[in-house]
Amino acid sequence: MKTIGSFSEYQETYQRSIEDPEAFWNEIAEDFLWKKKWDSVLEYDWSVPETKWFSGGMLNITENCIDRHLETKADQPAIIWEPNDPSASAISMTYQELHDSVCQFANVLKKNGIKKGDRVCIYMPMVVELTVAVLACARIGAVHSVVFAGFSSTALAARINDASCKMLITSDGSYRGSKTIPLKDISDKALKECESVEHVIVLKNTEQDIQWYPGRDLWWHLEMRDASAVCEPTPMQAEDPLFILYTSGSTGKPKGMVHSCAGYMVYTAYTFKNVFQYEDGDIFWCTADIGWITGHSYIIYGPLANGATTVMFEGIPSYPNYDRFWKICDKHKVTHFYTAPTAIRTLEKHPTSLIEPYDLSNLKVLGSVGEPINAEAWHWYDTHIGKQQCPIVDTWWQTETGGIMISSLAGVTPQKPTYATLPLPGIQPIILDAEGHELSANEAEGILAIKYPWPSMARTIYGDHERYKQVYFSAFEGCYFPGDGVSRDAHGNYRITGRIDDVVIVSGHNLGTAPIEDAINEHPEVIESALVGYPHDIKGNALYAFVTSFNTEVDEARLYKEICDQVAKSVGPIAKPDRIQFVTGLPKTRSGKIMRRILRKIATNDLERIGDTSTLLNPDVVEDIIAGNEEMLTSS
Ligand code: WT7
Repeated sequence: MKTIGSFSEYQETYQRSIEDPEAFWNEIAEDFLWKKKWDSVLEYDWSVPETKWFSGGMLNITENCIDRHLETKADQPAIIWEPNDPSASAISMTYQELHDSVCQFANVLKKNGIKKGDRVCIYMPMVVELTVAVLACARIGAVHSVVFAGFSSTALAARINDASCKMLITSDGSYRGSKTIPLKDISDKALKECESVEHVIVLKNTEQDIQWYPGRDLWWHLEMRDASAVCEPTPMQAEDPLFILYTSGSTGKPKGMVHSCAGYMVYTAYTFKNVFQYEDGDIFWCTADIGWITGHSYIIYGPLANGATTVMFEGIPSYPNYDRFWKICDKHKVTHFYTAPTAIRTLEKHPTSLIEPYDLSNLKVLGSVGEPINAEAWHWYDTHIGKQQCPIVDTWWQTETGGIMISSLAGVTPQKPTYATLPLPGIQPIILDAEGHELSANEAEGILAIKYPWPSMARTIYGDHERYKQVYFSAFEGCYFPGDGVSRDAHGNYRITGRIDDVVIVSGHNLGTAPIEDAINEHPEVIESALVGYPHDIKGNALYAFVTSFNTEVDEARLYKEICDQVAKSVGPIAKPDRIQFVTGLPKTRSGKIMRRILRKIATNDLERIGDTSTLLNPDVVEDIIAGNEEMLTSS
């Protein structure tokens, strides 16, 4: 894989990639194994919208992720799996073993009636068999739809039905910290609402009691026992769907983003290699769940396409203690560690004595993804985990983009705390004002848009192309609209300032939430914060901050003043919050994003329209926050 090794090489490559994108991607695509070469690199028309990469080409992504490494890497670990229970044994699965298991399971799928194009739902814990199931689908051209195993039966049923999945792959249960979650029971409940599922394959994992539906249910281990380890990869058209992955929309039902075979493979492999500067022998650990796009692209496909060793962790960062991440880094000699700001902020509040016992000297690169990383978390990560020796890549992208779009290249291009920095080769971001005019000055602030196709963009929303058009291509003509606010510095570095709907206009000033939250989080007694707007007679909108603190007995008046001083100093007096409510926790999605939407409803006293909170990680905090809000307003 082509690797950029210096800043000047990045600049030269970037220039080339936008002057002649087709020549650029043509060359990258040559690095892969194709059954048939493509006829054209790119065809697109965003007024439809329609985008085709490597049209006419044929390939199988598993051949690129597994088979082609066998000659040199058959005995190298493809996956290192760390169990939830630290006293249980870790598993290392070589490329040869991965090949054999994937082929066997692909044969199991075939035997049970799964054919190219069928949708298969995967609802599994973070065990090696999850990756095997994903790749086995890809091997035979079945479209996988992985549903995060923390979701409820209702959420699972909605996703199975949306794609009319023919099969469900699950396990009896899953371990998460000290809890055991009955995945099979949840699946059974979901399947009462789903008619399309013919078979359920059940992995024995926790060995808990389950209900069995003869004829429908099949044990993974029994099916695998006699399955052959030979399965020719099904040749796929470049534009055939590889998978569906659901992402929540601002309203209503989740959007099933559809990713294609070739473009997705080329782009995730290229970005994995270049952003992380992965070298043979390195151990790459992305802490995301495979239920999210980060897990698809940077636990499975990107690393394996590069013949890397990828770590899968079954558990959670707090179990049995808040030192678990560092313990795992030490144990498996992790060189690349990729996590989310929410995890960093949680770990940061624990004493550094939890880090000190561990040898983190193998670490070379740190990564962040999922939300803007605030300055304090960035510096803590840099100092205590990277020991100021590891570049940090702050990677901006989305479920819809398939791969990393804006990020530094580790140790190669400059980094700047809180900035995702520069676009990757082939990516053409622009900044628009509210009317859709491009802001051409280097220093600018506004709405992020992408003005040219890239290979791994989602091609549609499953079963609803009109919604795809409406959500992503109608805000501004001819551009892809990610929905994020952004600013750009004099050197062209991009800083993501939060979702567009997080922007609050106070006295005519357009304020992104991220920089203000950043300033609040700088206060030594603050863990994290979330900022929303509420209507104000004079200012139009005023700022309401929800803050969590280490101190259980907060002197609220003092802390309020100190936080305001901090914000005035870092952002400006205009950004001082009008109200601060100290809370025990912030509502978060299962993937760790703060749900500002719910907080906005509380701040604007629009409690009827809070909506469904059952899919939150911590639904209980919502009631506490509502009670605290009432108390604050009546006492002030
Ligand atoms: C949204 C996409 C990308 C995989 C995980 C999330 C926010 C993501 C960053 C970052 C600031 C970020 C954006 C984006 N986001 N990465 N490095 N800095 N914001 O995927 O659930 O589809 O969410 O996450 O708001 O639009 P997702």
